[in-house]
Amino acid sequence: MEVPELTAVNIDIIVDNFIDVFEISRPGQVERVILGRLKKPVMAAHGLSLLITLRQDDQETRILMDTANSPLVLFNNLEALGLAVDELDAIFISHGHPDHYGGLLELLARRQKPTTVYLHPDCYYPKLLITPRGRIGPWTLERDKLVAAGAELHENTGPALINGMALITGSVEPTVPYETPLPGAKRVIAGKEEHDNFVDEQALVLKVAGQGLVVIGACSHPGIVNMVRYAQKLTGVERVAAVIGGFHLTAGGDELINNTIAGLKEINPALIFAGHCTGFRALAALSASFPESFLVSCVGTKLLFG
Ligand SMILES: [Fe+2]
Ligand SMILES: [Fe+2]
Repeated sequence: MEVPELTAVNIDIIVDNFIDVFEISRPGQVERVILGRLKKPVMAAHGLSLLITLRQDDQETRILMDTANSPLVLFNNLEALGLAVDELDAIFISHGHPDHYGGLLELLARRQKPTTVYLHPDCYYPKLLITPRGRIGPWTLERDKLVAAGAELHENTGPALINGMALITGSVEPTVPYETPLPGAKRVIAGKEEHDNFVDEQALVLKVAGQGLVVIGACSHPGIVNMVRYAQKLTGVERVAAVIGGFHLTAGGDELINNTIAGLKEINPALIFAGHCTGFRALAALSASFPESFLVSCVGTKLLFG
């Protein structure tokens, strides 16, 4: 698929699970927020929201990837970081879990104009989790409510472009044997619970001039290595500048963590920037395995490419 080359990409981490003032910056590439200079505190929460600004010569597009777990955190952090929702050109919802669409309805309601929302149509199936501490959910992202709140829905199952600049992969083609959907994740279709194989989750992929691919997996339920491999296949680009997002590894156990580290070593990204649902245990293993390329994702961090 022809994916345009971007001249510059900025990614603002609006909501993520972590904040740590001692995490290092890499000037010009990874810039941490200085909390003491913000007009109000930012919050970390179990959710994800990224503001992605794309530039192709003199054209610019701003995409909000996911809307955190609640309006409370999303709007607090946008305000604290001095970012305005009015200037968004599109919203992309990575998959149908509420820690990614929790602020969506309120965001649509606060905007004074219709907003394009990109998502896979399987996001609308109710989802639930079977955990050692019992059933959690179901949660449902309701299509009718999105339309009523002003969403102009752009539903894709296969690869698509957002505003001609960013690739969203559609359902991820699995190629790696160790990345299998977790047994406790369920979805409900026509009243019947079934195992969730996360066909609704898509990666967002950017092609940056001179640097290669930036691959963002929000929860990466299909597997972060599968997502990067699929991004390489779709774009025909091997070089990976960065792998970003929640990798959902601790919940899969040490074997999955070790296999994923081996898979990422083969891909050899210049930057591995993980947070959200990766899990502390997996983050510690990634940090030890990639002392040069790994950094933890924290609220307020700005990533710069190109
Ligand atoms: Fe998820
Ligand atoms: Fe998540």
